[in-house]
Amino acid sequence: MEEVLFQITKDHLDTGLRGFPVGYCSTSSLDPQKGLAYVGLPIDELVTWTPEEVIFLLYHRRRGALEEVGKFIGELQKRSVCPPEILGAIERLPRNGHPMKLLSMALLLLGGVYPENRYQEDCLQLIAKIPHLTAAVINHHAGWGKTPTPMPELGYMENFAHMLQAPTENKKGLAEVLRLFNILHYDHGGGNLSVFVGKAVASGLEDLYGSMAASMCALEGPRHGRANQDCLVFVQEVLKEVGEEANVADVEKLIRDRLESGKLIFGFGHGVLRAEDPRAAVLYDYAQQKFAQHPLVKIALLLRTAGPAVLKENPKITDPYPNVDAISGTVLAAAGFQYPEYYTVLFGLARVVGISIQIVDERCYARGGKGTPIVRPRYLYQEPP
Ligand code: MLT
Repeated sequence: MEEVLFQITKDHLDTGLRGFPVGYCSTSSLDPQKGLAYVGLPIDELVTWTPEEVIFLLYHRRRGALEEVGKFIGELQKRSVCPPEILGAIERLPRNGHPMKLLSMALLLLGGVYPENRYQEDCLQLIAKIPHLTAAVINHHAGWGKTPTPMPELGYMENFAHMLQAPTENKKGLAEVLRLFNILHYDHGGGNLSVFVGKAVASGLEDLYGSMAASMCALEGPRHGRANQDCLVFVQEVLKEVGEEANVADVEKLIRDRLESGKLIFGFGHGVLRAEDPRAAVLYDYAQQKFAQHPLVKIALLLRTAGPAVLKENPKITDPYPNVDAISGTVLAAAGFQYPEYYTVLFGLARVVGISIQIVDERCYARGGKGTPIVRPRYLYQEPP
């Protein structure tokens, strides 16, 4: 007898496939209580690793020995520079829309240069090139000037920090925050919207670049990746309203007032998690250690306590706890990167890693190497309303 994983009833229709098991994912998993683990290792244990070590872990599903990681770094380094025609084309893209649009366009441009559709090679290419591509997109969109020549020998995220031309006083401090942000955002199980969209598009045998461009469009939505940008704006608004000297009671009152007037509270709740997101916990600890006196950090920490206290009063709210977006933008701002427009692009820079690897799994290894079939769910016909 086949094991029944999920019974579908009419109540499950039109619910965004919430919780439906649809396949396997071996890069990462999401436990409602414990949160994210990469290849079985809790995310908070990985934040002291280098990005290259974590990428190796996700790519090979095991921890690499020093020599193996060194060889892997060599493979990434030799692929790390984007072709000049791509950089030239990025510099001609319109700058008035959201920068995620430019990231998606830049990925399609890469697909124009590498049309062979070799998922495994394209996965390495993309993981290697995404720091250069992303830095070029942000520098152009922000008007920060030419992107310097990559220096991959500096390290994966150190090279990105070197190429990012953001005006900042503490480049070293920013590089450390970017490293942490990057590791925390590589992957989030198999069913988050951007990875699911990317795998769905690739199931029609679209190449990795087109599939990834679709993923990045999915990530751009305010219910998904762009929530980190909106969360910083929310924390800024709260700071303006209650002031730097506020206490938990002041913030609780603000939340109640906002809820009563139908306004949104940003950074709380998640489709799967039913406890505080461990990625958020890592960033709260970091913020407390490094930027405890920063006004936005003070507010974000008050929200961490006040948010669940108020939201728990409503029995309809299944997850009243903070997610990673509640604090990630605040940490970036405290580190001197006060450009919320680019927070989702930084999310994309990281998530390309997990999505690429998951697409390779589905295209090249699933079902004994045949790959998963084209995504084709069923919709029930309904008379027009
Ligand atoms: C993510 O990191 O992708 C978000 O937390 C959303 C999700 O997992 O559904």
